[in-house]
Amino acid sequence: MKKIYLIGIGAGNPDYLTVQAINTMKKVDVFFLLEKEGCEELVGIRKEILEKYLEEGRYRVVTAEICERKKGGRLYEQGVETWRQQKAGVILELIKHKMNDGETGAFLIWGDPSLYDGQLEILQYILKQGVVDFEYEAIPGITSVQVLAERHKIPLNRIGETIVIATGRRLKEYAPSEVKNIAVVLDSYAAFRHFRDEDIDIYWGAYLGTADEILISGRLKDVIEDIQKLRKEAKKRKGWIMDAYILRRVEGLEMDKVDSHNYDDIC
Ligand SMILES: C[S@@+](CC[C@H](N)C(=O)[O-])C[C@H]1O[C@@H](n2cnc3c(N)ncnc32)[C@H](O)[C@@H]1O
Repeated sequence: MKKIYLIGIGAGNPDYLTVQAINTMKKVDVFFLLEKEGCEELVGIRKEILEKYLEEGRYRVVTAEICERKKGGRLYEQGVETWRQQKAGVILELIKHKMNDGETGAFLIWGDPSLYDGQLEILQYILKQGVVDFEYEAIPGITSVQVLAERHKIPLNRIGETIVIATGRRLKEYAPSEVKNIAVVLDSYAAFRHFRDEDIDIYWGAYLGTADEILISGRLKDVIEDIQKLRKEAKKRKGWIMDAYILRRVEGLEMDKVDSHNYDDIC
């Protein structure tokens, strides 16, 4: 039986790898690196991770091209589905033809495999087709949302509050009054613009964990121009941008205002 690992590598810095991720990598015969035009740097970080943690010559690397998702279609979900099916076709071929029975293969997943990453569902989709059989397992990684909070030295939620994780596309569905703590990823629209007149703080970060990291925080209306300018400049300079942010309503329960008899929500 073939075995596939989806190994979470953390979001940015090769030092974010967990001991479990490193120990799993040592068992792998073949690493599959998926290349997308314009994202060569992300493949580079994966190669750096392999060189940093593994002995040369003890593993194979197979690269494959995947196409960019076509943007701008009428139905976003349908577009993503089609793109995932194309990606599944490439991955199926890799598992079928580029590893032998009894071997272990792995995909190095940016951040954590469970957060806005389609690879788990793609493997399940391939198995359902019944063309190839394999076991699979996911290894957790440090997500971009966690890195963002740590880099800004803030907890993800204040006492007893909820934390929502959303995409830029979905952010618009929230009424300003509903914004307590929202972490936003995958936002190519700068959707935070919709809340610019609200009493909301933003904790923004781009290229987190890398040498190009940029961090900005403050009252949204005060820093919005800076963020938009830096975003534009960085994207032009590097050709791509990966950024995330937390929006947080200014009022909220702070440590010194907590009723000392009610510790239910405090850990
Ligand atoms: C397809 S999602 C994958 C998320 C990933 N699985 C994780 O655990 O963070 C990609 C989005 O995550 C965010 N992201 C990932 N890595 C990042 C980084 N190093 N700096 C800033 N944002 C990042 C960006 O919003 C990016 O558009």
